Amino acid sequence: MSRSPISAKSPTHVTLGGRSLLAFVGTDYLGLSAHEKVLEACREGLERYGLSASASRVTSGTYEAHVQLEEALAEFLGLESALVLPSGDLANQALLESMEGELDRILIDADSHTSLVRAARANGAPRHDYGPGDPTRLLALCDRFRGERLAILTDAVFPAKGRLAPIAHLLRYAPPKALVVVDDSHGMGVLDKRGRGTLAAFGTPSSQVVVTFSLAKSLGAFGGALVGPAQVIETVRRRSEVYQGGTALPPAVALAARTALGILEAEPERVRRLHRNIRLLHEIAASHGRIPQGSFLPVWNIEFPDPAEGQRWHTELMRLGIFVPFSHYPSHPGGALRISVCSEHSREHMAELYEALASLR
Ligand SMILES: Cc1ncc(COP(=O)(O)O)c(C=O)c1O
Repeated sequence: MSRSPISAKSPTHVTLGGRSLLAFVGTDYLGLSAHEKVLEACREGLERYGLSASASRVTSGTYEAHVQLEEALAEFLGLESALVLPSGDLANQALLESMEGELDRILIDADSHTSLVRAARANGAPRHDYGPGDPTRLLALCDRFRGERLAILTDAVFPAKGRLAPIAHLLRYAPPKALVVVDDSHGMGVLDKRGRGTLAAFGTPSSQVVVTFSLAKSLGAFGGALVGPAQVIETVRRRSEVYQGGTALPPAVALAARTALGILEAEPERVRRLHRNIRLLHEIAASHGRIPQGSFLPVWNIEFPDPAEGQRWHTELMRLGIFVPFSHYPSHPGGALRISVCSEHSREHMAELYEALASLR
């Protein structure tokens, strides 16, 4: 169905076709995309640097805003080094590209994000899918290929499936020399009391992990990051054409992302509010007899075997003043309403969602 485009947006509302609607959409989990200090930093960056970096990082495109963001990300995650790229997708491409010819085999969770799957494919090493989230198969593959140069790739959080990767298990059984790549785009800012993501939440620091993520989700900015061992990050700088050949992330955006990270660090209550809303979302789901998997996730996908029924819920919610996207891909049967909460939804917003969904049963 074609719909009017969004003409204005805040973390909790969108304007569609001239109507302001309470919205449960997207991945701005901490509402930072509209935080006044983040916007102010972006404006300041635009004044100071202009819009485009207008050069690659290896020529004249490295600005202090990039370097400061990289230092702050490494420190926040307690890892050695970080590198910022123009998107989360490119972060995954750059990392796997820098390891071309260096890997004997890639093991990858079959549900991983398309950017990780494409990066693995482009690397060219033989690939073995495990999963989804199947620790037994992963363990068998690790045993079988022990001694080879392995990379194990996975998303940390799979919002569409409502599940977490078995990260602790994976790190326990990964051969010591394997590189473990964890795309934490949906865990960063969300998991752990301080929002430091999946590894912090499960107490699994490891020197063999590279964490990748999009800066366009809980940090509310744009771009992507790789954070991990200094030697791996240095190899990406030296070997990745994706990194070397493209225009750098706009420095104003890097400044905004750095500011968003500072707010996350300074205001852990934002993460607490998100966690409260996640609890409320899951209570609403339970009241519908639909206990979603993954009670730690800010997203509840309501699956509809019959897309017409999902569309009816979407339209009815719109009528009640609530916007929740319904996606239906003609190539797949059924569809899903995707309800996302953020830290900025109030208890009243959550109650409105509860009432509206209850009226549809
Ligand atoms: C798990 C995951 N990894 C990577 C990406 C790509 O990030 P970006 O949109 O910054 O390219 C996304 C984006 O949706 C994602 O969900």
